[in-house]
Amino acid sequence: MEAAVNDGVPGIGGDCGGACACGTCRVQVENDWLHKVGVASEVEEAMLECASDPAENSRLSCQIEVVPELDGLVVRLPPSQP
Ligand code: FES
Repeated sequence: MEAAVNDGVPGIGGDCGGACACGTCRVQVENDWLHKVGVASEVEEAMLECASDPAENSRLSCQIEVVPELDGLVVRLPPSQP
């Protein structure tokens, strides 16, 4: 989320600053990367359940720690998040 906001990526709000409380940083992780980003916490899962377009590969980007192993990570915006 921070990288997207800092680079002005449209559609990533980050309104709560990464506190897992707003959902404006939702992304859908490409299937090939799902196992590398780890699993969502219970708090993140609860936030994602409130999303208007839930998907198996939905994540809050603020909860994905950027580590060298994620170099090349591909995520997309949910359809309802222009
Ligand atoms: S920035 Fe608010 S939930 Fe991710």
